[in-house]
Amino acid sequence: MRYQSTNPARTNEVVAEVVLGDADTFVAACRAARAAQPGWADVPAPVRGRAIGHAGRIVEANAPALAALVTAEVGKPYTEALGEVREIIDTCDFFLGEGRRLYGETVPSEMPDKQLFTFRNPVGVVAVVTAGNFPVAVPSWYLVPALLTGNTVVWKPAEYAAASALALYELIVSAGLPTGVLQVVLADGAATFKGLSDALDAGLVDKVGFTGSTAVGTAIGELCGRHLQSPCLELGGKNPMVVTPSARLDLAVEGALFAGFGTAGQRCTSLGTVIVHESRHDEFVAAFGAAVAAAPVGDPTSDVLMGPLLDRKFADRFEEYLRWIAPHHTVSGSTAAGRITAQQPREGFVGDPAAGLYYHPTIVDGLRPEDELFRTETFGPIVGVCTYRSLDEAIALANAPGYGLSSAIYTTDPADVFAFRRGIGAGMVSVNNSTSGAEAHLPFGGNGRSGNGSRQSGRWVLDQFTRWQAVNWDYSGRLQKAQMDVAELTPDLDYRMG
Ligand code: UN1
Repeated sequence: MRYQSTNPARTNEVVAEVVLGDADTFVAACRAARAAQPGWADVPAPVRGRAIGHAGRIVEANAPALAALVTAEVGKPYTEALGEVREIIDTCDFFLGEGRRLYGETVPSEMPDKQLFTFRNPVGVVAVVTAGNFPVAVPSWYLVPALLTGNTVVWKPAEYAAASALALYELIVSAGLPTGVLQVVLADGAATFKGLSDALDAGLVDKVGFTGSTAVGTAIGELCGRHLQSPCLELGGKNPMVVTPSARLDLAVEGALFAGFGTAGQRCTSLGTVIVHESRHDEFVAAFGAAVAAAPVGDPTSDVLMGPLLDRKFADRFEEYLRWIAPHHTVSGSTAAGRITAQQPREGFVGDPAAGLYYHPTIVDGLRPEDELFRTETFGPIVGVCTYRSLDEAIALANAPGYGLSSAIYTTDPADVFAFRRGIGAGMVSVNNSTSGAEAHLPFGGNGRSGNGSRQSGRWVLDQFTRWQAVNWDYSGRLQKAQMDVAELTPDLDYRMG
């Protein structure tokens, strides 16, 4: 099946035409990955680390071209796309060194002439399925550590970001990866799911990594569970930002603007709802509304805060979310809500709105906990606002939708920070900073509807792509039985001072 990936800023421009495979294509790639894996695991880890380092240098040398391709294919502003490419380089830099660590431990035995050790072993074949909102950085969070730790990888990127994915694939294999170590398979969701299921049945996949919607993540979790596997799941978010009475409002507005409308609100870490103390509500909404109304929107190759939505599918879904706006809500942030058109213009729009999938940035004030807009992720340029009286109430509101990826609090009171940190269910907490924009070497991941507790990035992701092996080596020349043949010194437990 042929598929065209188009530029969302100019939908009549085809960025790539590719052929999508079927379930058998996916299975065949997993079989090749299985065959290549023992050889790759035999390459010494420091040598694999050097390859990852070289991949980072190759990506760095091609950064402007890769970023321009990302902008053309998914419509994120060029400066953001450059930041995305930077995240790959950061990830490679981190794992270059990890190739010389991958530490195991020596552990004392309870018996003489016996030594205990731990080793990290690769899991085997890793299947990775990723979204297109971060078409190159988020895949690198899987590919880089999985390869570094001696796994082979089959990667299924989002079709609507096929050109970016193929470019990243070429850049990484240029580091000298042997055939079969990293493969990319283009396929639609249904074919991928069937291929994954068949590959799991055939025993060809040992670990699945998935970034995407909560609904698909749930289906993948069920599938993997039947094979006694625990996938690495990075799903949606309804990320809250609490603005307390002591907050610096200018900072909170700047943070909410970027968190809500950067990447046109299409990050898993994008801001969902601002939960603002009632004493600061009017002031905050006025300043936030003015900032959003003034933000430049348009052609992502220009200096704008936000460009178009990623792809037609996302634009259609966003229109459905807009239908959740109800009479008890107050809308601000632009001259209209919905598609930016000649009839519904956006002041200061950069370029031609009719050419692409452009939407008005939208603030919806007056959210109630029972509103669909409050409870469900709305991937796109829409941010809700509601109020609270006590910090406990703010934390309860922040946790209520049941996601748990990112969160933020704006405050100058350290007591608020620690109470929020302790009470919030999110895997990531920002203090006086955006819900989005996590650094690439801290644990990244969520809880509840945002994931199954898996963490990516930094040394924490090593536990996703390796299994601990415990070794106990007896050189005493006899069978020593643990817990039974154990010496003990005789204590005087009745001893008391004076
Ligand atoms: C995503 O949207 O899937 O923390 C990842 C951030 C980025 C990654 C977002 N570094 O916002």
